[in-house]
Amino acid sequence: MHKEILIAADHGGYSLKEEVKNYLQDNGYTVIDLGTHSEESVDYPDFAAAVAQKISNNEYSLGILMCGTGIGISIAANKFPNVRAALVHDELSAKMAKVHNNANILVLGGRTTTPERAKKLVTIWLNENFEGGRHTRRLEKINSIEAKNNESSKKRS
Ligand code: RB5
Repeated sequence: MHKEILIAADHGGYSLKEEVKNYLQDNGYTVIDLGTHSEESVDYPDFAAAVAQKISNNEYSLGILMCGTGIGISIAANKFPNVRAALVHDELSAKMAKVHNNANILVLGGRTTTPERAKKLVTIWLNENFEGGRHTRRLEKINSIEAKNNESSKKRS
């Protein structure tokens, strides 16, 4: 089992981040907390980037992000190559985020998801395995969309 996880949130996800971080640490994970460290208002793209850049570089393989709804921070995280950030609210989505999508970042909403539910969803996502097969082909198609878009934006600049 992978035991090292990056975590970050904006102010809307701060309190849930603290709960999830403590839970993971109590369960033997090493959690690398990239902020924020208080309820003071901050900008979610900065915290998305802190985690997503390290996943994108292959420095780490798993991360968890939170903002108020989880929407803004997942939009921002998914701008990074090789990042598959999945916003989940229920058990089936948490499972499928790994089994079908091989999501390397799990996203939760601090204002939409209770700490108890969040711990359950994180546990499911961490313990499931990517199924591969046809899902690998689909992820490769996502990678080729990304590569094509990067090529055309390089040509434009
Ligand atoms: C911050 O107020 C809020 O917009 C943010 O946490 C998030 O919900 C954005 O999607």
